[in-house]
Amino acid sequence: MQHNKPIIIAIDGYSSSGKSTMARRLAAAVGYRYIDSGAMYRAVTLYALDHGMIDSEGQPDADAIIGALPSIKIDFDVRPDGTQHTMLNGVDVETEIRRLRVSDAVSPVAAIAGVRHALVAMQKEMGCSRGIVMDGRDIGTVVFPDAELKIFVDASAETRAQRRFKELVDKGSAVSYEDVLANVVHRDHIDTTRAESPLRRAEDAIAIDNSHMTLEQQDAWLLERFNEVTAR
Ligand code: DC
Repeated sequence: MQHNKPIIIAIDGYSSSGKSTMARRLAAAVGYRYIDSGAMYRAVTLYALDHGMIDSEGQPDADAIIGALPSIKIDFDVRPDGTQHTMLNGVDVETEIRRLRVSDAVSPVAAIAGVRHALVAMQKEMGCSRGIVMDGRDIGTVVFPDAELKIFVDASAETRAQRRFKELVDKGSAVSYEDVLANVVHRDHIDTTRAESPLRRAEDAIAIDNSHMTLEQQDAWLLERFNEVTAR
């Protein structure tokens, strides 16, 4: 059902908190467009990895990456079944950007101010016609500080690592739970302590800890929040 006055919904939270699933399902339920801003940071990271701009220690060459931004085109291809595929310079990289190789390298890339400024500008542009659900780390604080509905998703590091581990194993990756947990904890640290728009809850965001919620409970909770805002 499409509401008369489309709003912007910002969903922020820690890595693997399930915010993408929440955002995607809410967008489908209310007929909005879903945008995964993390996929954009992942696409830039994939480009940097493939062009030798990240050293063996995982240290990105910020100047080289910023210089390459004009040659990095990111968009989303929406399939008839509603799934979205991230496109990097016209190539479908949806599977590639979810691999541990990219997950391990993405936080330092997302901490580069020049990268953030370019991606935030693209994200603001995507939201100009409203009627979108965007998830990320700084959507309610920096990208859309005026979003009508802001959600901040939390869950313990162990719960999040467990989910991520299951996802990777289901996709056939040979990873250990310990490595996944270490990646989650490491990324939390970088995401919350970086100088440029660190992950934090916007003052007017509604917090939800979904550690013990089923998908259906989450959906119902989100829809209630959406209905409260759009009924005003
Ligand atoms: O949500 P994700 O795990 O796909 O995000 C990948 C990385 O990008 C993560 O390290 C945080 C960063 N990110 C960010 O800094 N700002 C956003 N709006 C989205 C993601």
